[in-house]
Amino acid sequence: MKLKNKHFYSTTDFSQAELGHLVELALKMKHQGYDQSLKGKSLVTLFLNPSLRTRLSFSAAMAKLGGDVFDLPADGSYTLEFKDGVKMDDSTKEHIKEAAKVTSRYTDAIAIRASQLVTNSDSTAETGSWDELKKDQVFKGFMKHASVPIINMESNVYHPCQGLGDAVTIKEKIKQPQGKKYVLTWAYHPKALPMATPHSEVLSAINLGMNVTVAHPQGWELDPEIIKTMKSKAQAAGGSLEFSHDQATAVKDAQVVCAKSWGALQYYGQWDQETVAKKELKHWIVDQKLMDKTNNAYFMHCLPIRRNVIATDEVLDGPNSIIVDQAENRMWAQMAILASLIGDQDD
Ligand code: CP
Repeated sequence: MKLKNKHFYSTTDFSQAELGHLVELALKMKHQGYDQSLKGKSLVTLFLNPSLRTRLSFSAAMAKLGGDVFDLPADGSYTLEFKDGVKMDDSTKEHIKEAAKVTSRYTDAIAIRASQLVTNSDSTAETGSWDELKKDQVFKGFMKHASVPIINMESNVYHPCQGLGDAVTIKEKIKQPQGKKYVLTWAYHPKALPMATPHSEVLSAINLGMNVTVAHPQGWELDPEIIKTMKSKAQAAGGSLEFSHDQATAVKDAQVVCAKSWGALQYYGQWDQETVAKKELKHWIVDQKLMDKTNNAYFMHCLPIRRNVIATDEVLDGPNSIIVDQAENRMWAQMAILASLIGDQDD
């Protein structure tokens, strides 16, 4: 597989065979061992949003492979300009052209988290329209000007490391996921959350050839352009893709139920209206009664999770909950990504 020096922005940039290779490599590293193939190599991480899993799992992944991580602190005071041809007489410190080129001279890859809808605060972040956020300008800027691979640790649109980690977990638990039923269900959350994770999670289940159902209330559709891609990929992978507005019917016979909340596209930039609109949707929660309708399904969630809002304690602490394995597998998936993008082996 020739993955060396590629950007890892979205799983849609990779073939089914390439993603399958990464999943198998992650499982091989986890269960059969790995060597220090990244000794002397480094990764720069830039987190424009907070993180527990992604930050720690990337550091752990590089450490296990013998490499180093340099974190570029982002406290909001180091501002970058992304537009071409502007006179930089305002507050931005540096243009992406120099920032990306110079950072590339110090490291072998740059991993970035830049999601405008993620905040530390209790309230939803102020955002522009979905059309504006969808441009993912931080990633596009770095990918245009950097000379090393850019790894997406969550953008506005995709969270491919979460997607790949989920695929590793599903493959680990269900050896032959092809044709098995995977349900992604929207769940109520007091804040509007990004669509990056649901997009990448659904794409990963599709890539495994699963029969995928996405359940959500009317008005909380995923991005229409990405749905189009999902449909064509589902057909190519031999699985299927359906949508439902009825959570209880959707989970029937499921072997995997994955929960996730996301903000409705129509309310981007007008979150007070979304808060009102979803007041009646608090019953969109995964409880044991819902799980009892499935085919003894595994329960997945990317974490962090609000207990007894997204899913009940009974489900989260129950025997079918695989959320901690799922979080662990982020590390193994990222080891496979890093070894393939910046390692010297070409297998
Ligand atoms: N799932 C996930 O990306 O977790 P963090 O936000 O903690 O990195």
